Amino acid sequence: MIAASIADRAPRAASAWRRGLSRLRQYGPGGYLLGLLLRRHFQQAGVVLVRGGLPLPSVENHGGRIEVGNCAFFQGVRLECWSDALIRIGTGTYLNRGVEIVAGRSVVIGRDCKIARDVIIMDTDQHALPDGALIVRPVEIGDRVWIGARAMILKGVSIGSDSVIGAGAIVTRSVPPRTVVVGNAAHVLRSL
Ligand SMILES: CC(C)(COP(=O)(O)OP(=O)(O)OC[C@H]1O[C@@H](n2cnc3c(N)ncnc32)[C@H](O)[C@@H]1OP(=O)(O)O)[C@@H](O)C(=O)NCCC(=O)NCCS
Repeated sequence: MIAASIADRAPRAASAWRRGLSRLRQYGPGGYLLGLLLRRHFQQAGVVLVRGGLPLPSVENHGGRIEVGNCAFFQGVRLECWSDALIRIGTGTYLNRGVEIVAGRSVVIGRDCKIARDVIIMDTDQHALPDGALIVRPVEIGDRVWIGARAMILKGVSIGSDSVIGAGAIVTRSVPPRTVVVGNAAHVLRSL
């Protein structure tokens, strides 16, 4: 039984080792060092990697909680977490350059997501309309979601796993799993 459990774990350990080596080749030791500096801003973090030049990723945490797995952050990424809010980003996900996340309450992103450059994800409009109150509605993004460049994911949206958000889409309504959406406001292009 013990032998079986070791045999089970060996391939996983080997594949984690291969992944680590390939990341080291891709990001270089500098990416790991900058990652160590960045991860100090997080309440919980795996192996954090930073890629690209200046500006370095920045974090504005006003008393919330930020949890990330083994994730990569490119230049100019900005995380803003309000008081008592949560930002959680799953292992294997990367945020390309200029990505911005604003959490008034909760922005949760799953594993192995590809967030392309200049994407904005926010769970609040950040200002109230003249006759209304400030609206904050959690955003949840599943696993293996690919969000194309310059898309915006707005308050209250859930995106199902394995979906694709087209470049420049403005997503105001939830997206089922395995679905491609495009446009402003985003509509279904096809199911996968
Ligand atoms: C969403 C996407 C994956 C769809 O690719 P595709 O399946 O090859 O789509 P097609 O090019 O066949 O286009 C199908 C239709 O959708 C429209 N369309 C495709 N992408 C669109 C987009 N981002 N916004 C609006 N319409 C779009 C096309 O104009 C076409 O419309 P038509 O049938 O009326 O002519 C792709 O267009 C896209 O946006 N990719 C993101 C690229 C990116 O941001 N990469 C960053 C690096 S990670």
